[in-house]
Amino acid sequence: MGHQQKKLLNAKDNILYRPALMAQIYSTGTYHRTVPIDLMKEFTICESFSRANTEYCVALERPAAYGSIIGDFLIRQGLLRQGASIVEIGGGYGSLMNAFLSAHAEMVKRVVMVDLSEGLLRRQKKTLERWHDKVRFVRADIHELAGSIRGADLIIMNEVIGDLDTMIDIDPEDLPHQVRRLVDSYGLGIPSQGCFNLNIGAIKLIETICSKGIPIFLTEHSSDPIIPQDMDFLSKGLDLDSYPRRIDLFKHCEYTIRFSHLIQAAHALGRKTETGALLDLINIRKSPALNMIFTSRACSTDYQEIMFELLDHIREYRWLLIN
Ligand SMILES: C[S@@+](CC[C@H](N)C(=O)[O-])C[C@H]1O[C@@H](n2cnc3c(N)ncnc32)[C@H](O)[C@@H]1O
Repeated sequence: MGHQQKKLLNAKDNILYRPALMAQIYSTGTYHRTVPIDLMKEFTICESFSRANTEYCVALERPAAYGSIIGDFLIRQGLLRQGASIVEIGGGYGSLMNAFLSAHAEMVKRVVMVDLSEGLLRRQKKTLERWHDKVRFVRADIHELAGSIRGADLIIMNEVIGDLDTMIDIDPEDLPHQVRRLVDSYGLGIPSQGCFNLNIGAIKLIETICSKGIPIFLTEHSSDPIIPQDMDFLSKGLDLDSYPRRIDLFKHCEYTIRFSHLIQAAHALGRKTETGALLDLINIRKSPALNMIFTSRACSTDYQEIMFELLDHIREYRWLLIN
């Protein structure tokens, strides 16, 4: 009798019970290859702050476009240097790179934009037309391309890794081979009981990039969020130590990222990491009013509505730098 058949029979009394869900890989590949993508349906942080004067910028201590905030941060970290070659994976509308180059083009020698969506690459080309002499575009699936990246000083992935392959419905007592390999190689913590999901595409990508020694900056919706200092109220109703959770979006879904798994893999491969809450990185203007707006959902003005929407959305986002 095969292993799966055995599982159908309760060993004690031979009562047939419903088979456990089979672990399988969820992929957004077909969606990104074939569906015209409207990022406005996804509320990406990058689009919310695509310019220094969007309605959301009232939330910032120093209003600025997201791409320039990221550029400044990378300079402070010593990762954006004169003559840099940058690869951005999954650049969406090109807004991050547009603001990044508007602020720091003189430091950048070359940019390669990699994306699976033909329509989004077309949009990126248009957005980045001013820099056509230094920007190239590659249509590829990063699951397949990562091993071939050469000569880059820095990789940027903003809100992309939640789109990569996720192994779902994994039984901790019956780990598929590729999950077992990652868990054992990097000492990944997994639940002792109950099915869970694993960001298999993201972990393997970190593995590949770490082996090449290229620094990477990434952000994503996390399943183990960090709550910014002085904003404890944001932890209301949040599980701060959970496993990848499905988020339903238009015609596809993505999974939150367990950052501690990426960090464990990076450390095991000898890399250093820094991480934090995205709200801190963008330098949200903190005030007692935010507590009141968030806790009581008091949204009687446009400002309050914007702040509530933003806090509710970004509180689970983290950034991670692997060097
Ligand atoms: C949620 S959007 C984020 C876009 C942009 N970075 C932002 O922050 O607004 C995800 C992006 O990753 C791209 N993408 C998703 N899966 C990919 C894959 N396997 N390989 C390359 N690009 C991918 C999508 O086409 C899209 O540009």
